[in-house]
Amino acid sequence: MARYDALDVGEMVLDDLDEVLAVDARALKSSWSRAHFLVELESPLGAAYVARSPRHRDGALLGFAVVRVVADECEVLTVAVDPKARRRGVGRALLERALGDAQRRGATRAHLEVRAGNRAAIALYALLGFGERGLRARYYVNPTEDALLMTADLARPEVEAT
Ligand SMILES: CC(C)(COP(=O)(O)OP(=O)(O)OC[C@H]1O[C@@H](n2cnc3c(N)ncnc32)[C@H](O)[C@@H]1OP(=O)(O)O)[C@@H](O)C(=O)NCCC(=O)NCCS
Repeated sequence: MARYDALDVGEMVLDDLDEVLAVDARALKSSWSRAHFLVELESPLGAAYVARSPRHRDGALLGFAVVRVVADECEVLTVAVDPKARRRGVGRALLERALGDAQRRGATRAHLEVRAGNRAAIALYALLGFGERGLRARYYVNPTEDALLMTADLARPEVEAT
């Protein structure tokens, strides 16, 4: 499917939460509750983003990303794109915005955990400059799976603020 020729990536607000939860439930096996999102929206360390297509008739929410910036470290907590909107640049746009903002807030490194079998997410993270830094055996449940630890140097050109 063709890429979106325009995407709005903005900060997540409370009014987005119903749509965020619907995308989350369609996209992820072990999804976040409303309370999880509220904690991040209310935390001064949290930063959450949503992507919409301004040209789409109803401007439906296509995906979201949540990160946390503590001192010079950015942690990617979750990112998900509606299954019907994948491979059109939404995940990349969300993470580029989140990592660019984190960099502006003083983060010099980003890290995350991902299911070792999640090839789509690992490919996206690698494209953005994340490299594998370790493994946590049997970290995930339902189903049990190892976690890959990935980190990125935010000074690298792949993730420079745009
Ligand atoms: C991972 C995820 C967020 C990617 O979102 P997306 O909008 O489809 O990704 P993009 O279109 O921005 O992809 C950018 C690049 O990442 C890589 N990529 C993305 N999905 C891929 C896939 N299924 N297989 C291989 N590479 C993939 C490609 O290099 C792609 O560029 P290309 O399409 O030009 O080849 C999406 O698949 C998703 O929501 N998965 C379920 C939730 C999840 O696993 N989240 C991560 C939890 S840690």
